[in-house]
Amino acid sequence: MMGHPDPTSEQDPVVRSVAAYSNEPQAYADHYAHHLLDRPHRFAASLPAAARILDLGCGPGRDLRIFAALGHRPIGLELNLDFVELARHQGDVVVGDIRAVSTLFPPASFDGVWAQASLVHLSTDETAQALADLHALLVPGGHCYACVSVTGATGWLDEPDGRRWYTVWPDESFLDAVRAAGFEITDITRGPYIEVWATKV
Ligand SMILES: C[S@@+](CC[C@H](N)C(=O)[O-])C[C@H]1O[C@@H](n2cnc3c(N)ncnc32)[C@H](O)[C@@H]1O
Repeated sequence: MMGHPDPTSEQDPVVRSVAAYSNEPQAYADHYAHHLLDRPHRFAASLPAAARILDLGCGPGRDLRIFAALGHRPIGLELNLDFVELARHQGDVVVGDIRAVSTLFPPASFDGVWAQASLVHLSTDETAQALADLHALLVPGGHCYACVSVTGATGWLDEPDGRRWYTVWPDESFLDAVRAAGFEITDITRGPYIEVWATKV
């Protein structure tokens, strides 16, 4: 069933997918060091000065550094400890699971939530819950960016550095999930991924 891996064939797909980033963490950081840099700059420009930004699944910390350099106050959330070690050279990072984000920060803690390719390993149900949690973590008028896969098939993917589960969102289904969480979508960037720019109304 779409978005619902068989729990009898694999143990927690999210944990297994996140662990795969430990095979070549520095190579991953180097490979994506210059990836889509216009996006975090655009997001940063949309926020008030010294905004509190949650960088969800911050990876090695590329965007933490950008947000801080632009005068904001980012904090990363990351489950992979090798990425946590790298990201802490760029800023503050909390170790934790996106699926428990509502337990990690009080409501209305952030002006912005940045989820660059970090919801891709969650099931559709887990993502729907995460979006609702992120909505609660934002102040009214706060901004959210989220990017997920819309091409390929939901399931396990064998990549050069490991095996990961990807949930693919067909048609407009991710937009529906973002709206159902309470957001107003302000812009959409379409490509192999769908990038959603949204506001807490
Ligand atoms: C495709 S990488 C993107 C990393 C970074 N945001 C970037 O754009 O380069 C996905 C990141 O999300 C993290 N991640 C995925 N699921 C997570 C979860 N449930 N809790 C915390 N981090 C998670 C992974 O460990 C990884 O760092």
